[in-house]
Amino acid sequence: MKALILVGGFGTRLRPLTLSVPKPLVEFANKPMILHQIEALEAVGVTEVVLAINYQPEVMLNFLKEFETKLGIKITCSQETEPLGTAGPLALARDKLIDENGEPFFVLNSDVISEYGFKEMIAFHKAHGGEASIMVTKVDEPSKYGVVVMEESTGRVEKFVEKPKIFVGNKINAGIYLLNPSVLDGIELRPTSIEKEVFPKIACEKKLYAMVLPGFWMDIGQPKDYITGLRLYLDSLRKRCSTKLATGSHIVGNVLVDETAKIGEGCLIGPDVAIGPGCVVESGVRLSRCTVMRGVRVKKHACISSSIIGWHSTVGQWARVENMTILGEDVHVCDEIYSNGGVVLPHKEIKSSILKPEIVM
Ligand code: GDD
Ligand code: MG
Repeated sequence: MKALILVGGFGTRLRPLTLSVPKPLVEFANKPMILHQIEALEAVGVTEVVLAINYQPEVMLNFLKEFETKLGIKITCSQETEPLGTAGPLALARDKLIDENGEPFFVLNSDVISEYGFKEMIAFHKAHGGEASIMVTKVDEPSKYGVVVMEESTGRVEKFVEKPKIFVGNKINAGIYLLNPSVLDGIELRPTSIEKEVFPKIACEKKLYAMVLPGFWMDIGQPKDYITGLRLYLDSLRKRCSTKLATGSHIVGNVLVDETAKIGEGCLIGPDVAIGPGCVVESGVRLSRCTVMRGVRVKKHACISSSIIGWHSTVGQWARVENMTILGEDVHVCDEIYSNGGVVLPHKEIKSSILKPEIVM
């Protein structure tokens, strides 16, 4: 089977992290976002992943080369010369997606994290006999997503409305699709939207089916959702494979610590924390609901909560970093500084406190 991952867009909502690497390569729970998806696809027998990309393909491909061999999966690129939206890239990659057996293929938004349920989706797709399957999930605030109205008993989609202004339902498109090759016949090679043009049409023809995603789901394309997503992901990791989580008297709740990270005496860490490779957390540090990326140093008695600390940054002694502070790569927060929601661009030194949420350029 094959899969296409939509990796366009500039990831502006996840700046300053995306100033250093393309969004799909930003680590989530110590692993680039896109690898969570590629590994899950490989596990259900996908042998080739096509990345639909509209900028920096070299960066992505160079990085993923290593995983091609490790995972034994082919990773190729289909590059647009202009952004083709969420459906146009499928037309562009048509020849790569159709195989000799006419098998269905997966299509994924690159910024969603979940237990995916690809295996269940394949069984669902075979059983309903329609042309396309989409995963849906329930959310409290559906207006920023694609909303799906479906017949409960069969899953047949009656209506698909992208970003509705008035309430139509609370089941939303999770950005995970399984499509028959015949779907490609209805997509032209031009900038076009799968959500606004393709799905409403297939729903009208009564050939679009939806299944409710088993387990958690989150679009982690913005900092607040990224931090919530980490909590949900670690909760599910606890159920699936609790041995991957850290243990000890200094650990509270679910915490992921890379084996090369060093943690000093008297720290209190958790819940919902990820500490990346090569990090040094000095003594007496308090960390909760945060991600500390590769190579970061957190000095004595610093306190970090609800924040993301970018690669190779340092947080000074007695510093307090909180409330959706996002430090870009190689940022240095001096001793005793307070950051309340500061969004700091790469390579900056923070010498005075940031008292309210703001961007530091
Ligand atoms: N190749 C390519 N070219 N990819 C693109 C382009 C493009 O021109 N534009 C967007 N994408 C990719 C994005 O990188 C992302 O992986 C996916 O298409 C969806 O775009 P987003 O910008 O993240 O859309 P959204 O989050 O507002 O809404 C989408 O996702 C929701 C779930 O998270 C829609 O599919 C909604 O219906 C859905 O509910
Ligand atoms: Mg998104």
